[in-house]
Amino acid sequence: MNRRSLLLSAVLLFVLAACSPEKELLPATGSFSQAEPAPLPEDRFLTIAHRGASAYRPEHTLPAYILADEMGADYIELDLRMTKDGRLAVIHDQELQRITGGSGKVSDMSMDELKKVSAGVAFNEENPELAQASYEQLTIPELRDVLMRFGTSVNYYIELKDPPEGAGMEQAVISELEQYGITESSGQRQLPPVILQSFNKESLMRLHEMRPDIPLIQLYSFKENADLSSEELEQLRGYASGIGIPADSAHAGFIEKVKGRELDVHVFTVNEEQDIRRLIAIGADGVFTDRPDVSRRISLE
Ligand code: G3P
Ligand code: CA
Repeated sequence: MNRRSLLLSAVLLFVLAACSPEKELLPATGSFSQAEPAPLPEDRFLTIAHRGASAYRPEHTLPAYILADEMGADYIELDLRMTKDGRLAVIHDQELQRITGGSGKVSDMSMDELKKVSAGVAFNEENPELAQASYEQLTIPELRDVLMRFGTSVNYYIELKDPPEGAGMEQAVISELEQYGITESSGQRQLPPVILQSFNKESLMRLHEMRPDIPLIQLYSFKENADLSSEELEQLRGYASGIGIPADSAHAGFIEKVKGRELDVHVFTVNEEQDIRRLIAIGADGVFTDRPDVSRRISLE
C-alpha cells in the first residue's frame, strides 16, 4: 500500500467512526444492562386483576387471587412491601389501618407479627353484602405464600412498593421467583409469566440489570393529562417494556406517542365497563381492574 492509499484509509476510518451512533462509541460501563427490554404480547388486551378480584373479596388475599384466576384474569397483581425482617409482605398500604383496623407500619413489623392480624375484618365491615365469616381468619400473605399456592398456573404482575435503597428488595423478589420456578420460560405460555412494576426508576433499572428477560413497567402518577418528553421515552426504552398510568390521565395522543416508541401502556384502576371500552378504543394495552370478570368479558368480544 502506497502513502496515498494509507492516507485515504485513515481518512475513511475517521469518517466511519464519526458517523457511528453515539452509543456504539461509548464503552460499556458495566453499570447498566445493554440488553433490550423483554417484549410484551402484541395485539392482546391484558386484564390485570388489581390486588386480585378485589371488588368481590378482601384485597391481596388468596381468595381474591383464586377468584381472579377463575374469572380468567391474564395476571394477578400483587403489591409488595418489605417487613422489618426483610420479608416480602403482599400489602398495598404503608400503614396497617385501612386493611386491618390496627395501627403501625409494615416496615416496623416482622412478617410473623403481620401474620397475626386479620386481612378480612375491614372488608366485611365495609361490604356487608359480600361479607363472609371466614374472611375474618384471613391473614396478610407473603410473596412465597402466593407463589406456593399458584406456582406456574397463573401469571404474576408484581409491584415493588417504596423499595428501600440498599435493602436488597429487588434481589429478594428475583430470588423467590426463581426459587419457585416462576421466571422459567415455557413454550406453552402465551404471556410472560411475570411482569414487574414500580414507581421507582432506580429499582427498575436494578431489576433490568439482574433479569433483562423480565418485562418491566414504569409507573407514573400523572394528576392531569399524561405526558412524557421524547428524551424521557428514549430513556425508558433502555430498561422498561411499558408504562402504567392513571385512568384519568390517559388520552389518545399520549398513548399513540408512547406506542410509537414500542412501549406498552397499562392503565389503573379501571372498573367501569364504559371506561374499559374507552381505553381499548384509544389503544391501551391493558387495565388494572378490581373487576377482572368485566374486563375479560369485554376483551373477548
Ligand atoms: O400498580 C398499578 C396500580 O396498582 C398502582 O396503583 O396504588 O393501586 O398500587 P396502586
Ligand atoms: Ca399496585
